[in-house]
Amino acid sequence: MKKILVTGGAGFIGSHLVRLLVKKYPDTLFVNLDKLTYAGNLANLTDIESLPNYEFVKGDIVDEDFIMATFDAYRFDGVIHLAAESHVDRSIASPKEFIMTNIVGTVNLLNAARLYWKDNYDGKRFYHVSTDEVYGSLGDEGKFLETTPYDPRSPYSASKASSDHLVRAYHHTYGLPVVISNCSNNYGPNQFPEKLIPLIINNIRHSKPLPVYGQGTNVRDWLYVEDHAKAIDLIYQKGTDGETYNIGGNNERQNIDIVKTLCRIIDLQLGRPVGESEKLITYVKDRAGHDLRYAIDATKVFETLGWQPEVQFNDGFEKTVAWYLSNEQWLDEVTSGNYLKYYEKMYHDR
Ligand code: NAD
Ligand code: TYD
Repeated sequence: MKKILVTGGAGFIGSHLVRLLVKKYPDTLFVNLDKLTYAGNLANLTDIESLPNYEFVKGDIVDEDFIMATFDAYRFDGVIHLAAESHVDRSIASPKEFIMTNIVGTVNLLNAARLYWKDNYDGKRFYHVSTDEVYGSLGDEGKFLETTPYDPRSPYSASKASSDHLVRAYHHTYGLPVVISNCSNNYGPNQFPEKLIPLIINNIRHSKPLPVYGQGTNVRDWLYVEDHAKAIDLIYQKGTDGETYNIGGNNERQNIDIVKTLCRIIDLQLGRPVGESEKLITYVKDRAGHDLRYAIDATKVFETLGWQPEVQFNDGFEKTVAWYLSNEQWLDEVTSGNYLKYYEKMYHDR
């Protein structure tokens, strides 16, 4: 049986990907290796946990001996690497964790793959799931291409840029078969409510202020998470070794429009008077070094592999809001305890 290691499979994107892969490829064993940080949650995977081609292993990619022992035990044919510290604001508050997991952890996985695959790279693949934030910030015009020079500006994006470079270096130096994709902002069910969309949904639910950084005019290109998972599957199966693929939603929105859209949809879904939630919008101090605009040119992945987003923004948004409103227990569980401390630290007096 083919064995594929997925790291970070208990997180937001990872859980959607693992669910897709486990159901689509019943003859492949998928091992989900995750540290279960605040962002990892096995409740995201209850529908697949008892399937015979799925296994969960709790562990830290920074622990080199543990990674080597795991490779030794399973002899993986492939790696899809998503485990990361992923939130820009946390990286501004404490960068070190990002260096450890995103850079050192990635190198540990690369070293293990190299060691266990070195006699025969045939059929092997190391896939690094990365972000468009490595390219820096755009002005009003233009889009990121795969050839856009790297210009990361936050500790998070700098750590992801470093790991991208290391993945490419292992390809050029040792011939390791790698692919990388750089994707725009994802949204959908199971996203930890530190990120804009679930944070705003959760605050509207509790009639709490809706913190909009700066003027709310920063632009992000939003993609429904299941479309990202499908792109990763396709690139893993059909992409070319050594190549990079940009993935995006072709769906640019200013933050303030996202927040106002959420207010309207939730007022309608909760039967509140439309306009009620918008009163909660509060402009707060901007994020340090806040990138103005991200936008992806996803022509390459469309022309070479035929991928394009399937979920329209309005449908994806309605589905997303409906999921959070009908999974309030999930939201309540992840927003208790340490989340309250995090929220206080980030937003108190902002
Ligand atoms: P997430 O924060 O929701 O999940 C990260 C997962 O990694 C969690 O399950 C966590 O427990 C695990 N993890 C963290 N540190 C670990 C460690 N040291 N060892 C093992 N597991 C560890 O992140 P996400 O939003 O699902 O992002 C997944 C990947 O996709 C990341 O690499 C991120 O950089 C990339 N990405 C995210 C987005 C986005 O919009 N969220 C966009 C493009 C790329
Ligand atoms: P976020 O979801 O943190 O993703 P990223 O920083 O990786 O793009 O933020 C999306 C945008 O929303 C970003 O421009 C920052 C902004 N934002 C707010 O205005 N308020 C908030 O409380 C958060 C978390 C983000």
